[in-house]
Amino acid sequence: MRHPAPLVEIVATGRHLPSGVVTNDDLAKRMETSDEWIASRTGIRARRIADDTENAADMGAAAARCAMQRAGVDAGEIDILVLSTATPDRWLPSTACDAQALLGCTNAVAFDIMAACSGFLYGLSMAEGYLAAGRGEVALVISTEKMSAIVDWEDRSTCVLFGDGAGAAVVKPANGSGRGILSSHLRSDGNLANLLYRPSGGTEVPMSEAVLRDRSHLMRMEGREVFKNAVRSMAEATHMALHDAGLTAEDVDLMVPHQANIRIIEATAKYAGLPMEKVVVNLDRYGNMSSASIPVALDEALEQGRIGDGANVLTAAFGAGLTWGAQVWRF
Ligand code: ACO
Repeated sequence: MRHPAPLVEIVATGRHLPSGVVTNDDLAKRMETSDEWIASRTGIRARRIADDTENAADMGAAAARCAMQRAGVDAGEIDILVLSTATPDRWLPSTACDAQALLGCTNAVAFDIMAACSGFLYGLSMAEGYLAAGRGEVALVISTEKMSAIVDWEDRSTCVLFGDGAGAAVVKPANGSGRGILSSHLRSDGNLANLLYRPSGGTEVPMSEAVLRDRSHLMRMEGREVFKNAVRSMAEATHMALHDAGLTAEDVDLMVPHQANIRIIEATAKYAGLPMEKVVVNLDRYGNMSSASIPVALDEALEQGRIGDGANVLTAAFGAGLTWGAQVWRF
């Protein structure tokens, strides 16, 4: 089978992490938990938490500035800004438009996508389609999450898992060198929405005193069910993405998975046939930053020189929706 040439490539990445570090021991002072419980079940040891002055648009714009500077791209050159977040600063307008104003990229069409932890892969796919259709030359994909604002700090089974941060990528049409997005396998299943959701606070059950009292505007998760679905879905998606790229596990130089739980990452790597030395893990420092996890991990891996010229990188994500997917990128 002949595999089509990539249509777009990631030309540069950037990240922004808020400076506030909260360790498991810090949490143990505020609630009944322990470093041992959190680290042994999830691999997480610390997370960054943004303060009131730093919202999703601010963090996203900071990550984007870093990516744009590395790409040598000015704000006026951006044709499309796709921003993924599960934590919009306001319900109206989009956080993408707020980030656009901060960045000054007023020639861009800017919009949000909500695909939870899979948002960066969905965003890249949107950018790919837009550029491939010839509608522009430069895309900016931002994933930014202030998870600390939507977790229930009284629910120890979820709040210990998440952190805040942002990652971004500048994407351009592929230049024929072979670099770019080789394959993309994205899926979703809305029948499983209630495994991970915010029951109230939208138009179905608007915000009210009762909602605030029962805290149903905050995130709720069926941890075990999410875990099972995550392992199954990411395994299937990585298989499909590798197949569509015409590659096998031996061809993969590095895997950059979503950072939700070390046990999910290990299971996904094992299924894909990859040793853990080839897998990027940063959830020990940042926890689960939803859609920002993958671009932050990618940015760190590039900075550390873990991705050389011509490297094949496998990525896989899973999140609320449910949404999931995998892609293969060549650098
Ligand atoms: N500290 C101490 N004890 C706790 C804590 C805590 N923070 N949280 C729960 N417990 C207790 C529970 O109360 C329970 O006690 P009990 O047995 O006396 O009732 C016990 O620990 C076991 O709880 P479980 O929920 O059964 O623990 P489990 O082994 O399933 O691990 C976990 C929970 C870590 C959440 C796991 O299910 C998981 O990782 N699921 C996947 C979650 C995930 O990845 N979500 C994000 C993916 S999608 C996205 O990124 C948005």
